[in-house]
Amino acid sequence: MRILVTGGAGFIGANFLHLMVPRYPQHTFINLDKLTYAANLASVSEAARCPNYSFVQADIADAHAVQAVFAQYQPDVVIHFAAESHVDRSILGPAEFMQTNIIGTFNLLEACRTTWSPISQGLFQHISTDEVFGSLGATGYFTEHTRYDPSSPYSASKAASDHLVRAYHRTYGLPVKLTNCSNNYGPRQFPEKLIPLMILNAVAGQPLPVYGKGQNVRDWLYVEDHCEALWSVLMQGQVGATYAIGGGCEKTNLDVVHTVCRIVAEETGRSVSSLESLITFVPDRPGHDLRYAIDSTHMRTELGWTPQESFMSGLRKTVRWYLENTAWVEDVRTGAYRQWLATNYEHREQLLPAGGKEGSA
Ligand code: NAD
Ligand code: TYD
Repeated sequence: MRILVTGGAGFIGANFLHLMVPRYPQHTFINLDKLTYAANLASVSEAARCPNYSFVQADIADAHAVQAVFAQYQPDVVIHFAAESHVDRSILGPAEFMQTNIIGTFNLLEACRTTWSPISQGLFQHISTDEVFGSLGATGYFTEHTRYDPSSPYSASKAASDHLVRAYHRTYGLPVKLTNCSNNYGPRQFPEKLIPLMILNAVAGQPLPVYGKGQNVRDWLYVEDHCEALWSVLMQGQVGATYAIGGGCEKTNLDVVHTVCRIVAEETGRSVSSLESLITFVPDRPGHDLRYAIDSTHMRTELGWTPQESFMSGLRKTVRWYLENTAWVEDVRTGAYRQWLATNYEHREQLLPAGGKEGSA
């Protein structure tokens, strides 16, 4: 297979390539990425040494660029990770989310529709989120049949992209597979998301900002477990089907932050109480979904997939990765990320991962 992986320099895409490129030398992997603030080619440095890997910098919101990539590389499979992915950013500046998540997905679908002849020869695998379903109350689970009810500009744009993917299947017969996954954590995640931000701020002795009362619940999945799930969907999943993927691991945000403090303390020899004293309650996110939780029965029964990491084992691996990969961390602490936060997000200055160089772009 010639597999076009979009967003392969971001968190999940890079972990996917890191695992699959060396494991499957019989397949060719093309990483298409715009290299936004969230990307880091250092995240795919090992995959990049393999002969079955290539990289192309392109913007999926640019229809001509997408068509040119299809003409050059002639992929027969697209695994579509590329997105603007951070809810807080979508609240502060939604426009980019519409361009990348909606128009970008549309451009890719059009390239598949107009290039694959017959159309049934390709496969478009769409990576989406459980956030399209909105918020759960204290009970219940999201499944493949849950009604869409997105709360944020991010989740609304992902919902739109899911609808486009299904419409291309029904209207044009494009072979598609969809997945809606819960919150991922693990190595190579940009430290604007909860877990890496807390790890790096704890290590640096900086405030650990918890939104509201910290009682919102997320269902955490170690990123490699997600990547394995995606590979099983690719190889064994049914065309036209949707798979809900979750960790079966519900935690309040406050629980997550306390556990991060405990593991960072164990790994660095500091006291847990000194790290916990950094916890700072900050104003809540507008439209903050209370609870996400996935029922992954379809994945387990049809594809035999089950997560391998517990929250403790996955989080310990994650903390160690951030402690060991200081060059990667330094790379993202400086540069455009800090610049963006400084200009757009002054009231949450404490969210900055500590230690970066002020004003560098
Ligand atoms: P990320 O923000 O870490 O990475 C996104 C990547 O997409 C970056 O490398 C970026 O450069 C690239 N990109 C952005 N705009 C682009 C454009 N216009 N053209 C080409 N490339 C572009 O995101 P992530 O956390 O790795 O998420 C990957 C996918 O998985 C997203 O579609 C997201 O909605 C979905 N998802 C994420 C989670 C999670 O917890 N992170 C959970 C479920 C689903
Ligand atoms: P996040 O990692 O942004 O993922 P998502 O919003 O897609 O679920 O946030 C996870 C949870 O953590 C969410 O309920 C918001 C909360 N949160 C904080 O309390 N403090 C923070 O600094 C961040 C980034 C998130």
